[in-house]
Amino acid sequence: RNLLMKYFIGADHAGIDIKDYVKELFEERGHEVVDLGPFSKDRVDYPDYAAKVCKKVLEEQGTMGILICGSGLGMSMAANKFDGIRAALCHNEYSARMARKHNDANVICLGERVSGYGMIEAIIKSWDKAEFEGGRHAGRVEKVNALGKMGSCRA
Ligand code: RB5
Repeated sequence: RNLLMKYFIGADHAGIDIKDYVKELFEERGHEVVDLGPFSKDRVDYPDYAAKVCKKVLEEQGTMGILICGSGLGMSMAANKFDGIRAALCHNEYSARMARKHNDANVICLGERVSGYGMIEAIIKSWDKAEFEGGRHAGRVEKVNALGKMGSCRA
């Protein structure tokens, strides 16, 4: 089983209904989860909450993030703008496992309108049980990290 971790969680209005459920699943597995909101169902913009969570993850070394929106897409796009964040959109157990094992993901993104409660539980279990394999994957992850330091460019 994996090390006990500190997670920061954030959502938008389309992810808020499962935020507490997700938080509890991580807590049941022994992790600490700090809720960065939102705390009402009012409409909010997912980039704002992606930024709140990613800033904390980058500030506190060794922590990880959980982001939930309707599809999980907006959160993952926004999170991956941050240099040092490797956010993985997980709709199934295989993706969740590989996100940790091969990509050393530090933020998990979930889609409330895509995955049901049972699938969310299975995704979190797979994510939590997996560990980064290093080896040949380490160099690739380093290359991904280096891309973040290249600054903005347009292909
Ligand atoms: C909100 O309607 C929805 O667009 C948002 O939660 C997310 O799915 C965006 O990617």
